[in-house]
Amino acid sequence: MLFDIVVKINDILKKQEKLNKGGKFSTINRETGHFINLLIKMRDPKKVLEIGTSIGYSSIWIASALNKNAELITLERWPERAEIAKKFFRQANLPIILIEGDAIEVIPKLRTKFDAVFIDAAKADYLKYLHLLILNKKLNKHTLIIADNTVSHASKMQDFLKFAEKKKAITAEIGKGVTFFRL
Ligand SMILES: C[S@@+](CC[C@H](N)C(=O)[O-])C[C@H]1O[C@@H](n2cnc3c(N)ncnc32)[C@H](O)[C@@H]1O
Repeated sequence: MLFDIVVKINDILKKQEKLNKGGKFSTINRETGHFINLLIKMRDPKKVLEIGTSIGYSSIWIASALNKNAELITLERWPERAEIAKKFFRQANLPIILIEGDAIEVIPKLRTKFDAVFIDAAKADYLKYLHLLILNKKLNKHTLIIADNTVSHASKMQDFLKFAEKKKAITAEIGKGVTFFRL
C-alpha cells in the first residue's frame, strides 16, 4: 500500500519534470526536492506555507513529507500555473490547499499560523514576504524558513540574506542554492 503511494507520487513528479522541460515553469530540481523533503521531515510541521507554487512540483515534495493531520497551503498569482498545479494535486491526493492570488495581499488574510515556510516567488520580495508574515503574526515560535535561489539570485536578495545571516542560516549549494534557518 505504502509502496503504491510512493510509486504514484513519483509518477506525478516525473510528469511535472517532463512538463517543466527547458525550465518553462521554473520549478526546483529533483535534488532540491529531496533536500526540502528531508528538511520538512526533520521539522515535522503541522502547517506549512509555500510562496510560489508554479505547477506544484515543490508542493508535492513538501506535502509528501508531512505527517497525518498536517497540511500545506501554497500561494500562486499566475492563474494558468495554478490550474495545472491543482490538476496534479487532485491526482496526488495530498493535503495541499492552493490559494490563487498575490502573496503580498493574501498573507495578511491567512487564518493559520505556520511552523515552516518555503519561499520561492519574486526574488526581490523574499524579505517582504517574511516581514508580512511576522507583522501579521502568522508564524509559530521557531518556524523553519527555507528559501530557494539564494545562490543564483543572491544579488537580488541582499536584504533577505543579511536577515538570514543574523539567524545563523545555512546555505546549501544544492540546485540554485537553498538557505534555511529557524526564526
Ligand atoms: C520559481 S516559481 C515556483 C516554483 C515552485 N516552487 C516549484 O519549485 O515547483 C515562482 C512562482 O512564484 C509566483 N509568484 C511570484 N510572485 C508571486 C507573488 N507575489 N504571489 C504569488 N505568487 C507569486 C510566480 O508566478 C511563479 O509561478
